[in-house]
Amino acid sequence: MATNPQPKMTARNVNVHYGEKHAIKDVNIDVRADEVTAFIGPSGCGKSTFLRCLNRMNDTVASARVTGEIALDGENIYDKSMDVVQLRARVGMVFQKPNPFPKSIYENVAYGPRLHGLASNRADMDQVVENSLRRAGLWEEVKDRLQDPGTALSGGQQQRLCIARVIAVEPEVVLMDEPCSALDPIATAKIEELIGALRGRYAIVIVTHNMQQAARVSQKTAFFHLGNLVEYGATSEIFTNPRQEKTKDYITGRYG
Ligand SMILES: Nc1ncnc2c1ncn2[C@@H]1O[C@H](COP(=O)(O)OP(=O)(O)O)[C@@H](O)[C@H]1O
Ligand SMILES: [Mg+2]
Repeated sequence: MATNPQPKMTARNVNVHYGEKHAIKDVNIDVRADEVTAFIGPSGCGKSTFLRCLNRMNDTVASARVTGEIALDGENIYDKSMDVVQLRARVGMVFQKPNPFPKSIYENVAYGPRLHGLASNRADMDQVVENSLRRAGLWEEVKDRLQDPGTALSGGQQQRLCIARVIAVEPEVVLMDEPCSALDPIATAKIEELIGALRGRYAIVIVTHNMQQAARVSQKTAFFHLGNLVEYGATSEIFTNPRQEKTKDYITGRYG
């Protein structure tokens, strides 16, 4: 795969406050298009908060104040000229708990492409839906029941449906916030395999509290602690040869 030396997303001096609470402290990071980046760290250290900065989901939190600069292909996503609906199509998000719409499997996937005018007729839309479900590794399991409600699927299938919904609008970046934490080990393995298959097509950022998962799926790992980005580097380095004592303590299970 062709390697683009420019990072897909860059964050510079990003701080997030919730009222008085300083949740993210001066974070700088580059996310590459051809890699999976994992955010790890103990609960409450700011992983979700920082992830949500990357597609301005924190805009929906009244008390949240984000400062600093975050760019997508060099363009500041917090600029007032940025169309946030468009941004969230370019930088899609998968949540901890699978959250399909109360609609059919087909409509769950067709929703975004319809909103963004990505299919001009029913045959085109059928194709978009099929391609997205295939890419999400779900097509064979649902092709004969596309009109069933998305919520009738198993948890793991629902999460893959949510991934299909995100990739149906051809995003550039896919953010995943602990996407396997509600799933059993078999469903988790399927999602991890899927992340590997999607790598290279989309920049992927995954929050996980599971260090083995970070080691399996990612090329870069960022370790957060108390709102600070303590260490960021190649996953293999972070897990075998961390530079910071805090990282070492965390990955060896001294605190969690
Ligand atoms: N909506 C919110 N309002 C106020 N404080 C919040 C909100 N969301 C998160 N926080 C606080 O910000 C800190 C970071 O939380 P979070 O980003 O959810 O951490 P993580 O995802 O690493 O568990 C925590 O102290 C948490 O209590
Ligand atoms: Mg979280």
